[in-house]
Amino acid sequence: MASIDSMNELFVDELRDIYDAEKRLTKAIPKLAKKASNDDLRSALEEHLQETEGQISRLEQAFEHLGERAKGKPCAGMKGILEEGDEHVGEDYEDDDLRDAVIIGSAQRVEHYEIAAYGTAIAHARLLQQDDIVQLLEESLEEEKAADAKLSQIAESVVNIEAADQSEESEEKTGPARSRQATSRQRSTAASSSKARVSSSRAKSARRR
Ligand SMILES: [Fe+2]
Repeated sequence: MASIDSMNELFVDELRDIYDAEKRLTKAIPKLAKKASNDDLRSALEEHLQETEGQISRLEQAFEHLGERAKGKPCAGMKGILEEGDEHVGEDYEDDDLRDAVIIGSAQRVEHYEIAAYGTAIAHARLLQQDDIVQLLEESLEEEKAADAKLSQIAESVVNIEAADQSEESEEKTGPARSRQATSRQRSTAASSSKARVSSSRAKSARRR
């Protein structure tokens, strides 16, 4: 393989990496949406799938602008994030809200990776004085940021509280002190899905006693 010997080549390489990442996402997002139970979460994912299609076409415009063929270069980073997400989402959860919390975590990891990639590509496009491409990439970056903010909002306002409430309902039936502790612990760590999962399994073992 030829070595990268100019900023321009490096930039094309970066765009190919992002192009591959976005293409992978068009396959991964529908799978996540299918597993989501919360309506807001599902529609946020479906909406972002549409945006992702648009981002792919912006990248194609950027390649055209540079006189380069639109072609992906396997993005190991996105591949890894998606594999990890797949693994976590596929685990057993006591209730659907906990799985939704994990789906949000996976989707936000994706968004942050993309935000980083677009940020660097925009800086390089500026160096190369590719103003039209800067504009295209900035539009996509804004969509990624908005998608991330939307996911944070869903995580805070819907999914985690419902997950905690469900534990509270089952606690009311049995009422062990350990379970009450687990629920408040779960609330205080609502932002961390893995911790919520630990609390949930604690609540489950407390109920068994
Ligand atoms: Fe994207």
